[in-house]
Amino acid sequence: MKLIFDTHAHYDDKAFDEDRDELLTKLFSENVAYIVNQGTNLELSKYSISLSEKYENMYCAVGIHPECITKNSLAELDEIKKLSQHQKVVAIGEIGLDYYWDIPKEPQKLIFEKQLELANELDMPVNIHDREAHGDTLELLKKYKPKGILHCFSGSVETAREIIKLGMYIGMGGVITFKNSRKAVEVISDIPIEKLVLETDCPYLSPIPFRGKRNHSGMIQYTAEKIAEIKNIPVEEVLKITCGNAKKVYNII
Ligand code: NI
Repeated sequence: MKLIFDTHAHYDDKAFDEDRDELLTKLFSENVAYIVNQGTNLELSKYSISLSEKYENMYCAVGIHPECITKNSLAELDEIKKLSQHQKVVAIGEIGLDYYWDIPKEPQKLIFEKQLELANELDMPVNIHDREAHGDTLELLKKYKPKGILHCFSGSVETAREIIKLGMYIGMGGVITFKNSRKAVEVISDIPIEKLVLETDCPYLSPIPFRGKRNHSGMIQYTAEKIAEIKNIPVEEVLKITCGNAKKVYNII
């Protein structure tokens, strides 16, 4: 039975240019059940839709990523709204805040807030990027109370609890298999597995033993094994429950 649900992928990335269709066909014929490709700007959101049209179990999110904000972003949100009506679009994403890179904070917050408003207006879930911006992200999530996933969660146990209290899910990927992932391990042991979803963020963040290599949805197996070890339950159980959680959050029947 196929049980891998990759809730956050970037198959539009040029790292997949040479074998994208071959790889996706192979993954879906092996153990990958569903993939949700994330949008990062208007063009790539459109491309994500075209990719999702090719594969029955590939869905996508549309949105503007904080690293992709331009002077046109605000005007482009009307177009994002139109794209969201496509039947394979299941979320507004990847949206959020990134304080790691030197990107002005105010435009980031503006575009993030506009997209949170949009998701609520459309009654759609969001997929959130929060890099070194835990305080402001949490504040805005508390303000707008969206449904959805906080992807590649890197916060504390306390923050994870707050996110869950808001009704959101925690996304975990290859990072949890790294040696320095003590914080993520603490979060996984603390939160109920019913609030966890799995992801790759591919082509980045491959789990051990493939760290540094190109990531793909099949590698979620290694992330699931790590969670199984922490939770002390069979890996099939981890995959089954997290797949169910993801279907629920993205409203895939
Ligand atoms: Ni991403």
